[in-house]
Amino acid sequence: IREDPQAASYYTANYIRRRILEFNPTAERPFVLGLPTGSSPIAIYKILVEFYRKGELSFENVVTFNMDEYVGLPRDHPESYHTFMYENLFKHINIKPENIHILNGNAEELDKECERYEEKIKSFGGIELFLGGIGPDGHIAFNEPGSSMKSRTRVKTLAYETVIANARFFNGDVNQVPKLALTVGVGTVMDAREVVIIITGAHKAIALAKCIEEGVNHMWTVSSIQLHPSAMIVCDEDSTLEL
Ligand code: GLP
Repeated sequence: IREDPQAASYYTANYIRRRILEFNPTAERPFVLGLPTGSSPIAIYKILVEFYRKGELSFENVVTFNMDEYVGLPRDHPESYHTFMYENLFKHINIKPENIHILNGNAEELDKECERYEEKIKSFGGIELFLGGIGPDGHIAFNEPGSSMKSRTRVKTLAYETVIANARFFNGDVNQVPKLALTVGVGTVMDAREVVIIITGAHKAIALAKCIEEGVNHMWTVSSIQLHPSAMIVCDEDSTLEL
């Protein structure tokens, strides 16, 4: 628990830096990092960019897999997760373009795209560290309430609450928010060797309590991390109100 979102973000970014440095990645043995979107990770990405600019962290041998992407939004749409990742992180660091993986929400065959993504993750020997955020309903990636704990990368219909929550990015208009997304599954996230979740703000307090103080439950999919051998939640004071 850190005092505020900025301190929680700094802790998380610094932790990721330490893990990458300790791993000492090479081209043959890259560090495979799972990444989220949303407003929570923005400050973390800013700090990672700062580390890179100061020469304290290199992404040369880092491979990334993003958690999710909307279906049907053009790749260069300002609110696509593709655009989000380039604007907030990728265009500011020395990551190789071929090391960036983001689900293609415009693929002709969406199921095939999801299978291909799982295969790609496997081809890198799995994910070393998956960084995640959560929705106020406790969803991880776009694994909405009711998602199977064993779920893999697939097409998901967004919960109405998520559409409403994300309307703030689409001029406040729920009609503009895509209703489908591609997302890694709960099982895909849990397969990572380490999972780190950032949770900030009073609006996430109930989700945090459900996540760690109640049973493992497919209605609050982030609670699945209770079963993970190496998981950490980094949160701010406000999000602990219900603990
Ligand atoms: C979306 C993303 C999630 C993210 C969530 C929370 O639903 N698919 O991966 O955790 O938003 O976003 P925020 O950090 O803006 O609260």
